Amino acid sequence: MPADLVIRNALVIDGSGSPGFPADVTVTDGQILGIGTGSAAAREIDAGGKVLCPGFVDTHSHDDGAFLRYPDMGFKLAQGVTSEVSGNCGFSTIPNEPGRTYMPGDISGSGSGWTDLDSYFEACMAQKPAINNAMLVGHNRIRAHVVGLEKRLATTEELAEMRGHVAKAMEQGAVGFSTGLIYEPGRYSDTAEVVALASECRPYSGIYATHMRNEGDKLLEAVDEAMLIAREAAIPLHISHHKSAGRRNWGRVSESLAKVDKANASGMDITLDVYPYTAGSGPMWQYVNLQNIDVEWAKGVMIASCPDFPEFEGKMVPDIAQAHEWSIEETVTNIVTSPKGHQVICIHFIIDEADIETNLRHPRMLIGSDGIPELKGNPHPRLFGTMPRVLGRYVRERRVLPLEEAIRRMTSASCERFGLVNRGLVKEGYAADLVLFDPETVRDLATYEAPKQEPAGIHMVIVNGKVAFEDGRHTGVGSGQMLRFKR
Ligand code: ZN
Ligand code: CU
Repeated sequence: MPADLVIRNALVIDGSGSPGFPADVTVTDGQILGIGTGSAAAREIDAGGKVLCPGFVDTHSHDDGAFLRYPDMGFKLAQGVTSEVSGNCGFSTIPNEPGRTYMPGDISGSGSGWTDLDSYFEACMAQKPAINNAMLVGHNRIRAHVVGLEKRLATTEELAEMRGHVAKAMEQGAVGFSTGLIYEPGRYSDTAEVVALASECRPYSGIYATHMRNEGDKLLEAVDEAMLIAREAAIPLHISHHKSAGRRNWGRVSESLAKVDKANASGMDITLDVYPYTAGSGPMWQYVNLQNIDVEWAKGVMIASCPDFPEFEGKMVPDIAQAHEWSIEETVTNIVTSPKGHQVICIHFIIDEADIETNLRHPRMLIGSDGIPELKGNPHPRLFGTMPRVLGRYVRERRVLPLEEAIRRMTSASCERFGLVNRGLVKEGYAADLVLFDPETVRDLATYEAPKQEPAGIHMVIVNGKVAFEDGRHTGVGSGQMLRFKR
């Protein structure tokens, strides 16, 4: 029997961080069968000396709902992403009560027929998704499910019920527990609540992934809280989209990383992720206090999607203000209080370029897009561009980190962190999630002005042994799987 496919004449960068070597890679039954001299196969692919490496892992996604709305996952697949971790920042689509609306403008997407991780995964698989999905169970969702959006601490009974939801998700194969402590309703919790919930991950070796309570003036205090939570819960810590927001705080990622290094040296287990852009993005209402609008912040805000004023999409707040002869405060208020104001997604320029490079140099820094899969309007370009931007801009052009190291973090290191076993290396017996790309030409094409552009230089993406993307064409093979955490 010939194998399914063989990729000949590739420069294999295997994901371990070791230098590349020339080889053929043979794939059959969804797995890597051999590396070296290729076997006869039903399909022969000539790599022409280009790089073949494991498929990339997007460690920070908000694609829970996208797996149902856009199962082709084109914006990730075209980047070479073969697996991702959804349910970040406390927003997950589980637990779910069918028909209930949890939060206005919930970025994880509203629920449908499922109730828990098992039934959500089943619903995803019925759509034949293009890529693999692993999931964190989110604090904001659990709190909205049990306590609602009330601005208070949870009662003893509510806390017990919330713990049960974390435990159930972990039992069903979630990779850990996530928080988004700047967001409603997670921000109404105290540290003790988060410790109690995170502790439910311990029997399953799950991790605590956090969008910390503060990423600006109180960044270091927030890092202390995150470390305290992980220490008390006795589980590993993963800090999401590490940044130091706001001009006056720029440069302080070094202090925060020094804290992380010190804690790791003393026996903690902390990793982080970053997206390679100077702007963040999220639901605008979550960042705005209408009684006290931060004008400095608003001046750096671009509107990504805005159902009531689609003409604002892709425009900066000061430009909208000028065109309508509104003040900055009026502009923000008019946008956020419009009938569908809760669905407005904004892009805010809050990050220093030098901090991105400091982050990328750190050996425990993984890559996560944090893309919000709202294809109407002008999404943040990270949704389409994150992985190629790391490889093109930061590896090839700016030489911030070597190619092998970037690939290691985007593959094996991410799989190890999130319990994706048998993935993340080009190795015999491993799942055949592979990317063939040209290191000389790979680059992101998505910009703030034209964000829905697939990158250049990614030639082929193989998901579980099937060709899912080939020279700009999405094959629609739908070979993604739902990945359950094992350790
Ligand atoms: Zn976040
Ligand atoms: Cu996020």
